[in-house]
Amino acid sequence: MRVVSQNFSDILEPNVEMKTFPDGDTYVRIPDVKKEDSILFHRLYPEQNTAIFQAVLMLDILKRAEASTTLVSPYLPYSRQDKTFKEGEALSAEIVCRLLSDAKKLVTIDCHFLKKEGTFNYGGLEIENISANKLLIEHARKKAGDVEIISPDAGAKYLVEEAGGKSMEKKRGEYQEGEEAYRKIESIERDFEVKGKNILILDDMISTGGTMIKAVENVKKGDAEKVYCAATHGFFLKDSLKKLKEICDGVFVTDSIPSEASEVSIKPLIENYLDS
Ligand code: R5P
Repeated sequence: MRVVSQNFSDILEPNVEMKTFPDGDTYVRIPDVKKEDSILFHRLYPEQNTAIFQAVLMLDILKRAEASTTLVSPYLPYSRQDKTFKEGEALSAEIVCRLLSDAKKLVTIDCHFLKKEGTFNYGGLEIENISANKLLIEHARKKAGDVEIISPDAGAKYLVEEAGGKSMEKKRGEYQEGEEAYRKIESIERDFEVKGKNILILDDMISTGGTMIKAVENVKKGDAEKVYCAATHGFFLKDSLKKLKEICDGVFVTDSIPSEASEVSIKPLIENYLDS
């Protein structure tokens, strides 16, 4: 059985009721719930805390119906919090996986802490991590012809190495002052030439845009010809999409998080996996 959340309606026909109680509590109902193997399609972003809780409720409904469920969620929130940086911090990535562990398996795309494709077990949850890198590189080549592919940091190396790509090195500093928990990027460095080349900078996500902006500045300083930016997941917080468009020749992402830069559909990726 396919259980499709309202927030997946751009890809599949939804069949779940989702409402909010007057006090703000979350309401979900799966009208056709059955005792059979199920696939639950539900995005965990935006409004990740609500979306995660909706997933927990739906997984419980399915569990009580004795359905074994594969959860398909293209982006896993909190996946950058798989390590603590300062004493006393929560290991949020593990907690989220634990919360979702009523699922038999989570199928997700370019999960930040896994850093490669394959099957893993994390926080008591089996995770199948698939990558959108090939789709993004293919799209870049259609759009821009021959491009050299590089990643802005070592964490995204797995996205580019199959295509012969190189990686830059990123260093983050301490948390900045104020309400926002954000560690500024201190530097992005490169030990290879980009002069006269068309470059695609590929990352798993563009969040505040800080990484991509610094990476674009770096390759432009190195006299790259044209520069394109791509990522699997695009949040484009604040005015980062506008800023990036101003300094490079093209920015695109998948529709794992739908936005005006979503030029690559994840549908074939998910279908391929489910057919395999
Ligand atoms: C972290 O290392 C990730 O791979 C991305 O490079 C990073 O999260 C992007 O975030 P931002 O756009 O805020 O620099």
